[in-house]
Amino acid sequence: MIILKSVHEIDLMKEAGKIAARALQLGGKAVEPGVSTEYIDNLIYKYIKSQGAIPSCLGYGDFPKSSCISINNEVVHGIPSKKRIIKNGDIVSIDLVACLNGFHGDNAWTFPCGDITKEARGLLDATRESLFEGIKCAKIGNRVGDIGNTVERYVEARGYSVVRDFVGHGVGTSMHEDPSVPNYGKPGHGARLVKGMTIAIEPMVNAGKSDVVVLDDGWTAVTVDGKLSAHFEHTVAITPEGPLILTDPS
Ligand code: MF3
Ligand code: CO
Repeated sequence: MIILKSVHEIDLMKEAGKIAARALQLGGKAVEPGVSTEYIDNLIYKYIKSQGAIPSCLGYGDFPKSSCISINNEVVHGIPSKKRIIKNGDIVSIDLVACLNGFHGDNAWTFPCGDITKEARGLLDATRESLFEGIKCAKIGNRVGDIGNTVERYVEARGYSVVRDFVGHGVGTSMHEDPSVPNYGKPGHGARLVKGMTIAIEPMVNAGKSDVVVLDDGWTAVTVDGKLSAHFEHTVAITPEGPLILTDPS
């Protein structure tokens, strides 16, 4: 069931989204050679708490940390660890959710560490732009499949593949609500986008094949072929004025 939000509820979600976006900025600034993913997670935890919000990932199922930090061939849901040290040339995906006023804001970004290869840069640029192309489709009258199809075409035209095992989702008082928002689809198919829907659009894009596998830790998804993966995400509201990004730091 899709839960529509009132204008007031969207304002409340914007407050949650702002904290999530600022926490993500803070995490991104901390991406440096020699830093552990746990150190970054701790900064994120402290910032979210300092704003009176809750880091939604912490204790979600058995997830033990406040953010997911996934490096290089890791696609999503990497578990921050003091043993995981970032090095020059890595690409570091940080995915986090903050809850305020009972509403969640969900966002992700892949940050380069130092000097990354041209191939890595191309993947980051294509994935980020595919997110913004998808967001442009998040308007009344379109359908979920229009978003997915746009993302998929953008990515595949550049020689990359979209992950199919994980998808975007509705977001609100629960971190995951209906509808699913895949990064692939058919134009004119899927749920109709109406005023008051709030969705997380989150292309996960692989440099090689789309296949992923989850490691023995039960969380970390990696590419089967070992190639790089990137992830960019915003929480977006469908409004009469067009798509409204709720995970905006300003
Ligand atoms: N943005 C991620 C998602 O939608 C958040 C996962 S939190 C975790 O799947 F606890 F599941 F890791
Ligand atoms: Co999400």
